[in-house]
Amino acid sequence: MPAKPKLTAEEQDQVRRLKWFREARFGMFIHWGLYSLLGRHEWVMNRERIPVEEYEKLADAFKPGPWPARTWAKLAKAAGQRYMVMTTKHHEGFCLFGSELTDYNAVKRGPKRDLVAEYVEAAREQGLRVGFYYSLMDWHHPDGAKCKTNEKSRRRFVDYIHGQIRELLTNYGKIDIMWYDVSWPLNVEEWESEKMNRMVLELQPDIIMNNRNQLLGDFGTPEGHITPEARAWESCMTFNDAWGYTPIDTNYKSAWNVVGMLRQVAAGHGNLLLNIGPDPLGGVIQPMPKILKQVGAWLERWGPSVYDAADPVHQEWLITGAFTRKGDTLYYHCNRWPGKELAIGGLVCKITDARIMGGKKVKVTQVRDRLVLSGLPEQAPDPLSTVIEMKFTGEPKQLLGAGHVLIGRDPWRKTEK
Ligand code: GLC
Repeated sequence: MPAKPKLTAEEQDQVRRLKWFREARFGMFIHWGLYSLLGRHEWVMNRERIPVEEYEKLADAFKPGPWPARTWAKLAKAAGQRYMVMTTKHHEGFCLFGSELTDYNAVKRGPKRDLVAEYVEAAREQGLRVGFYYSLMDWHHPDGAKCKTNEKSRRRFVDYIHGQIRELLTNYGKIDIMWYDVSWPLNVEEWESEKMNRMVLELQPDIIMNNRNQLLGDFGTPEGHITPEARAWESCMTFNDAWGYTPIDTNYKSAWNVVGMLRQVAAGHGNLLLNIGPDPLGGVIQPMPKILKQVGAWLERWGPSVYDAADPVHQEWLITGAFTRKGDTLYYHCNRWPGKELAIGGLVCKITDARIMGGKKVKVTQVRDRLVLSGLPEQAPDPLSTVIEMKFTGEPKQLLGAGHVLIGRDPWRKTEK
């Protein structure tokens, strides 16, 4: 038998750097910038074709309240989140950090403070990991578009972007995530992305990077959907339908939705990066804080079924819920409670013990491929999702054909003719 291929030194280092991330499960994304003053999506400058000279003036009007990042970090902690990622510069080009490379930054203009420094300190105070979102695309920089067609312009722009990444990863101590975004209009060679990643790792040997500078990086970033990848990955999700502060959009995910997403990412061994878009002062408007706290309370009780459960289970859909798994334990997240009895079809493994997580045993009846748990409370113990913990032997697989199963001819049972 050929020996299992050994990991290269680089791959081993990636495994090491990713360790905390693979176990983190839940993080807070923060989109904050000048667009917050307008309240119509972080793409407002582009979507409404606001001229640069006009948009720029917002930089002086931006006067955040005292240390809002402290509130966000406390909220993240209360929500059971383990890391934060904040926009240090979004597509609008305004830098929330002090930069030697442009005056269009929070230290020189309205806030007269380094908002990135405040953020890093606040996250650290709560024991949270720290990520920097940084948009490569820049609508403010004079070379931001010209760089595609003019070499001098490209040189200046790429030096600017690499230079700012260097500043970010030099001036704020240890940073855990470099979260690039939108790489329009250059290609991977033009951005000098290989060089960019090498610099990032030289400055921060423990950091992880995403895949949005046109290289694979350390983790994938499915956006707006939860699709597991065959490597480290993180789904980023808006709370309503915008990333930046947009109070006219009230289409918020509920605590029930968020708990459901957490189950889904756990089942696929990924993370959920859930966004908040603070208002111009830095406040987080309702219902976001309320919902985050509800989710935190849920995790407080049922946490192990998402934080630690990341083993695969082959499953089919059921209207009452879905599984996560850790070793020989299955966790059924029942988010539509059926009453005193819960039936699950198609399980191929033997259930040897079932209980509401941390509680008393419930009665298990397993006839052929039908599992019935009985003696359950009439009302859902937790309307957001009640976790039923089951021990099993055999393969944790669920097989439900689309048609009727004929007695004696179960298609899932290979041994029967
Ligand atoms: C998209 C959007 C951007 C947002 C990002 C978050 O790339 O352009 O506004 O910051 O997604 O993942």
